[in-house]
Amino acid sequence: MGWLQQQVALVTGGGSGIGRAVVRRFLEEGCAGVGVLVRSQEQAESLVKEFGESVEIFLGDVRNPQDNLGAVEATVNKFGKLDTLVANAGVWDFFTRLEKMSLEQIANSFDEIFSINVKAYLLAAAAAAPHLRKSKGSMIFTLSNSAFYAGGGGPLYVASKHAGVGLVKQLAYEFAPDVRVNAVAPGGTVTPLRGPETLGKQENRLSEIPNFEASVAETMPLRFIAQPEDHAGHYVLLASKRNSKATTAAIIQSDGGWEIRKMRS
Ligand SMILES: NC(=O)c1ccc[n+]([C@@H]2O[C@H](COP(=O)([O-])OP(=O)(O)OC[C@H]3O[C@@H](n4cnc5c(N)ncnc54)[C@H](O)[C@@H]3O)[C@@H](O)[C@H]2O)c1
Repeated sequence: MGWLQQQVALVTGGGSGIGRAVVRRFLEEGCAGVGVLVRSQEQAESLVKEFGESVEIFLGDVRNPQDNLGAVEATVNKFGKLDTLVANAGVWDFFTRLEKMSLEQIANSFDEIFSINVKAYLLAAAAAAPHLRKSKGSMIFTLSNSAFYAGGGGPLYVASKHAGVGLVKQLAYEFAPDVRVNAVAPGGTVTPLRGPETLGKQENRLSEIPNFEASVAETMPLRFIAQPEDHAGHYVLLASKRNSKATTAAIIQSDGGWEIRKMRS
């Protein structure tokens, strides 16, 4: 018996990386169905190929309020309810330092990164809220080691993920006692995480950075770089109404021990 028997979830950005590993694991744990908000037709087709009728795909952009509503409605129409929202779609800034950007780039990239990493989480939460209140469900946000520490990105990404901590706490406060609101904060993980268009990095992929895997593994006290599936169990735990009944406003760090890493000498 899985931990999520007969549950229904919606995962944004679930076409690749960590989101996709969560979709796979939720279905393994017994979910009746999972809605997935994806950006591209290619991701949509590949999800249907892997999961068939167990997934309901909604093609859209998480920055768009109507797309968030559409994804929630499509999921509820197909599977009858919603127990868990996983707001996960994100974009990274490829360590772009403040002084490497022009003033225009700072302004535009702030808007792009915060729209995806912060605004879209709020939109998804608002769109899902009435159904989650009804099911006494939960929200789970994908944050990052950059939600707590410097050095996992540039100032725009790090600030956007720190903002996510505020979202978790405030929404947990606003939605108690009906809906639990928690987060998972992964560290460096092998995924095709992209950069912002406003920095010309939309075709760059984190997993293609030369030596990325080895350098993360070397820095992490646990001495390995995570695969997306290494984080998925934390989402299962937080989504489980039985096993996380008393947990809200919590953030599970899944980052190989970033807190206790050795500082560069
Ligand atoms: N990979 C890492 O090292 C790492 C570390 C910490 C946190 N994270 C976080 O994990 C989350 C998932 O990222 P990932 O690493 O699995 O990378 P990923 O690129 O595989 O997943 C992100 C997904 O978000 C989607 N997306 C991006 N912008 C979108 C938009 N405007 N509308 C709809 N979908 C959009 C992408 O298409 C992609 O499928 C992100 O929030 C990221 O910040 C990743």
